[in-house]
Amino acid sequence: MRFGCLSFSRLHVLLAIALILPACSASAQTTNLVPTPPMGWNSWNHFGAKVTDSDVRAAADAMVASGMRDAGYVYINIDDSWEGKRDAQGNIHPNSKFPDMKALGDYIHSKGLKFGIYSSPGPKTCGGYEGSYGHEQQDADAYAKWGVDYLKYDLCSYMDIMKLHDPNQDPRTAQAMMEAAYAKMNEALLNTHRPIVYSLCQYGVGYVWKWGPKVGGNLWRTTDDIRDNYRSMTLIGFSQAGLEKYAGPGRWNDPDMLEIGNGGMSTDQYRTQMSLWAILAAPLLTGNDLSKMDATTKSILLNKEVIAVDQDNLGIQGHRVGPPQIWEKPLGGGAEVVALFNFVTDDEAEPFTLYLKDVGFTGPVHVRDLWAHKDLGVLHDSYTVTVPQGGVVMLKLWK
Ligand code: GLA
Repeated sequence: MRFGCLSFSRLHVLLAIALILPACSASAQTTNLVPTPPMGWNSWNHFGAKVTDSDVRAAADAMVASGMRDAGYVYINIDDSWEGKRDAQGNIHPNSKFPDMKALGDYIHSKGLKFGIYSSPGPKTCGGYEGSYGHEQQDADAYAKWGVDYLKYDLCSYMDIMKLHDPNQDPRTAQAMMEAAYAKMNEALLNTHRPIVYSLCQYGVGYVWKWGPKVGGNLWRTTDDIRDNYRSMTLIGFSQAGLEKYAGPGRWNDPDMLEIGNGGMSTDQYRTQMSLWAILAAPLLTGNDLSKMDATTKSILLNKEVIAVDQDNLGIQGHRVGPPQIWEKPLGGGAEVVALFNFVTDDEAEPFTLYLKDVGFTGPVHVRDLWAHKDLGVLHDSYTVTVPQGGVVMLKLWK
């Protein structure tokens, strides 16, 4: 049986290596590359397959001009659709939308930003462009030459390879093949000796949060693709409950990118996404057109108090305390953030009382509202507030 250019027995060796080695190799990749969740921009949610070199440059310019870079958003990530053809030696080239990847990388770096790119372990990406299958080292070398700092590696057509090589579709074989494919690109990235953040994208299949670190992943998508609507965003965001034990500095659950500013949700709903992603210590990858942001979008993406929750040094992913969607996240220095989400969209918003004891505090406790940017004074027992429909109240509590 063949596995690309590998015989089946070599596949076993590869799998054995994948099981034994990653503990050492993965740590070289993960150490301190993303001690806090990565922040930046990705082209997919707004531009899709139309993204061009000039869109990416405009995003980099806007990242700086808006103050977002200085707030921590440093990755400028091109998603699918940059790929062109391979030459006779198998080297990957960008398509005509991206005339010179090295020059683009240099431009991004000249702005004090970092450069991200996208590929797939399969022969084709999800958009039908050239994937890295059988060319992993060549592609990693090309990325390193272009100055790439971040790779999103998207399963896509590798699922067909998994089916092809195991028509019986034994889930264990599929799982082993998938892990080996991700470990293989990790090795290729390590061989370049360039620090490259490794973002696994396979929609959470096979409990990726359990084996993501083993194959060198710094972050891993936990769900299918997000859409720019409240239902999709909350289904994904609130379903992260329980995954908190798998996240920490250098290894992050990724509930997909931000939709803030793309137009499909209200201001309150976009504040919900920003707050929930921060509580989840999720990557904050904006997915809007940064060159055309209105003041409201900027105020959400640039809420530094909420960003600080996401980027807190402890790197603890928050958890759900209980209904109706009360979430909390411990912060360094003994503080804590509590978010009250009003998940109900068709009733009048009613006052809600948070009891301090339910979130592990006894009064007196200092409280600050992170969206109102206002100290609420000292609380002794409880706090009553009306949370807008689809919205959130985010409180920082400290002794
Ligand atoms: C998949 C991924 C998306 C995006 C597209 C590109 O659907 O989950 O985030 O990268 O592919 O084709």
